[in-house]
Amino acid sequence: MQNRDHLVLVGPMGSGKSTLGRALAARLQRPFVDVDARIEAEAGCSIAALFESEGETGFRAREARVLAAVLAEPAAVVATGGGAVLAQANRAAMRDAGIVVYLQVDAATQLARLQHDSTRPLLQAPDRAQRLSRLQAQREPLYRATAHLLFDASSLAPEAAAATLAGQL
Ligand code: S3P
Repeated sequence: MQNRDHLVLVGPMGSGKSTLGRALAARLQRPFVDVDARIEAEAGCSIAALFESEGETGFRAREARVLAAVLAEPAAVVATGGGAVLAQANRAAMRDAGIVVYLQVDAATQLARLQHDSTRPLLQAPDRAQRLSRLQAQREPLYRATAHLLFDASSLAPEAAAATLAGQL
């Protein structure tokens, strides 16, 4: 049985789910859980290493399992990975678990944040901008379908974004 009072952040890589999530959790005096970090802690290796050893399919299975476990824990601010919305079961579980916020980000801000990233396997290609825009085209409808609330944090620092978002909850 999952807890229904979570605040779940969905959105693409570089939208600020982890940074904003941490600031929001502090403001709301709630625990903060980062699903990617939980997956890495449980596996004892990085997400990049998991993609290497198990492929994206193996990673997605872990992601679904860890997400379900996190949603069964006491109410928290939960930052998900950008691809968590791909599975229908994940989408249903998140919507059921409380309020889901889609963190939007404009393409330029997103690319600037991810320009030098070496941790995200789906971005290790010469043309990051094209990869990001292809992923966004595929996932945007899923983010929208999962979320109860849309919030664009592109131009705000984490503290300001957390304060503004907290006011909308
Ligand atoms: C992914 C996003 C990453 C991480 C993994 C796959 C994706 O999380 O889960 O690299 O499919 O978009 P962030 O959105 O926190 O970067």
